[in-house]
Amino acid sequence: MRGYVPPEFVKEVLDRTDIVALVGEYVRLKRQGKNYVGLCPFHAERTPSFTVSPEKQFFYCFGCGVGGDALKFLMLQEKLDFLEALERLALRAGLSLPSQSRDPAWLARRRELEEGEELNRLSLEFFTASLWGERGEPARRYLEERGVSEEIARRFSLGYAPPEEEALLRYLRARGITKEAAVKWGLASRTSAGRVVDRFRGRLIFPIFDPQGKVVGFGGRALVSYLQPKYLNSPETPLFNKRNELYGLYQAKDAIRAAGFAVLVEGYLDAITLHQFGFGYAVASLGTSLTQEQVRLLSRYTGKVYIAYDSDTAGEAATWRGLDILAGAGLEVLVVELPQGKDPDEFLRALGPAAWEASLASALPLLEYKGKKLMAGGLVTARDKLKALRALLPNLACLRTLPEREEGIRLVSRITGLSWEVVRDELLRFTGEEEVTTRLKSDKSAKNKHEALESRACFAAERGLLQALFCRPEILAEVEEAGGEELFTHPPCRAVYSALKEALAAGEDISPTHLASRLPEEALDAAAGILVGEEESPPWKDCLRFLRMNLVRQKRKQLAGKLSLAEARGDEEEVRRCLEELQALVNLERKGGERGNERKGEPSRAARVSE
Ligand code: UTP
Ligand code: MN
Repeated sequence: MRGYVPPEFVKEVLDRTDIVALVGEYVRLKRQGKNYVGLCPFHAERTPSFTVSPEKQFFYCFGCGVGGDALKFLMLQEKLDFLEALERLALRAGLSLPSQSRDPAWLARRRELEEGEELNRLSLEFFTASLWGERGEPARRYLEERGVSEEIARRFSLGYAPPEEEALLRYLRARGITKEAAVKWGLASRTSAGRVVDRFRGRLIFPIFDPQGKVVGFGGRALVSYLQPKYLNSPETPLFNKRNELYGLYQAKDAIRAAGFAVLVEGYLDAITLHQFGFGYAVASLGTSLTQEQVRLLSRYTGKVYIAYDSDTAGEAATWRGLDILAGAGLEVLVVELPQGKDPDEFLRALGPAAWEASLASALPLLEYKGKKLMAGGLVTARDKLKALRALLPNLACLRTLPEREEGIRLVSRITGLSWEVVRDELLRFTGEEEVTTRLKSDKSAKNKHEALESRACFAAERGLLQALFCRPEILAEVEEAGGEELFTHPPCRAVYSALKEALAAGEDISPTHLASRLPEEALDAAAGILVGEEESPPWKDCLRFLRMNLVRQKRKQLAGKLSLAEARGDEEEVRRCLEELQALVNLERKGGERGNERKGEPSRAARVSE
């Protein structure tokens, strides 16, 4: 959403906001050195690891890794979307619409969305009135057959779209809404003959709300089996993209917080039935496999998710990908196993709430569930085993603590029949990160230890260099010359560097808050960590020298690989070129090691060697 708000306006708002004061309204902060610390509002903790930097205008939690600027804080804390948070901060800072209205594109966009919201609101009004009015008889009968109580139907604002072609259109026309607008916002469609008719006809309507309770779209279930498709949903509109929404979240969010977990189901009715039986923590994924956006949304409310998909979908590859996204976002994922052919709705109605609670209690952690499914296929050949191992590695890599990881490795080794050492080595190769190597105490291998130390040293140097760049942008040229982006081996560091460089090139402000708007969202948390981090860094020249030597070493490794390939091919020309380049690198490395500082010109040649 950041795209269509003028960046100057965002900057103005952030400039006039003091993040310490803002956070202080929610979190008790204590001064500690340059920063303020307090108990993180986004995860449970006893000792404060939530840090706010007045200087950088950033917050970062060293416990859960969440971080960002004042806008992000308000979005998370108050569960607002970007625009809502921006409006609130603007108000707080004494800025209001006049400064926004300077941008006609922004205003136009705002007005467009308001039209859609109004249309959705009117349509919902029509659908619910139809359900509870005279003509709603067939839909009410259907609800009764399916055992949906009136109370729960009202809580979810269920509605009814009558079968006539223009029932909603007439209602909208009387309120000044054109056919074109109805088509645009997905409530009417054009037939092949060019007539405009209601999109939803003869269907039970499930309005889809965003977490703040705004209707963004609709799902409609056919009341009779010969009407296809069974469920018809709103098409994508500027307000509705099913990848971004979770059905029932608006109604479930308090229960999710109270329970400390959410239950994710496939169907609208599965979610509704769970709520009706008193399990208000259920949300549904809108018939798609789970997306990154949905996971991000859910993770604002909880760190633990039970999956209760129909037994036939739970084992599918697309589903696993979705579940891996959940696990990858650091959520604890458990799989509820339902009897063959039953969805949660049928399960509850057949077996009752006690059986439901029992099946939650015996839900399997994702890793175990996957392993069980893989084993069911019978792992006979070495290839089967390796394939199973590969499928499990992403889940293993998600386990954060040492005991969990050890337990996980043991489990995977048991499942695949591969030795503990093989599983561990593959895991290390898979993650290739310091975290694993440093955390796995049982790992005695000197090589891995060395790699971990090196990676940690790189990270410290990259961070040190970035921190220096913020204070002294004039050193950018020197950093560029030494290799620029390539010096940064950690993706968040590299992202921060690129953003910084672009901002400097564009002559823009390089305060961390401004920079945040240039960073990809995935990099924001980590970037905040880098910027807020208070550890003493070595002098920037040392950082730069270290990183340059590291780059040269990497290049040399690459070049050696290229050389042996060329030799194998018998490509004499290429061999000669490689040898020359290699020699140049070796010289450079030696020089760098002795004096720590080459004459200008040489490093850049070295850095470009393998391009
Ligand atoms: P299911 O086919 O499992 O239906 O689709 P269900 O939820 O059990 O519905 P009932 O009990 O038959 O009424 C699961 C979900 O997939 C989406 C809907 O969100 C549905 O709730 N879906 C399904 C569609 O979007 N379109 C379809 O045609 C079918
Ligand atoms: Mn069902």
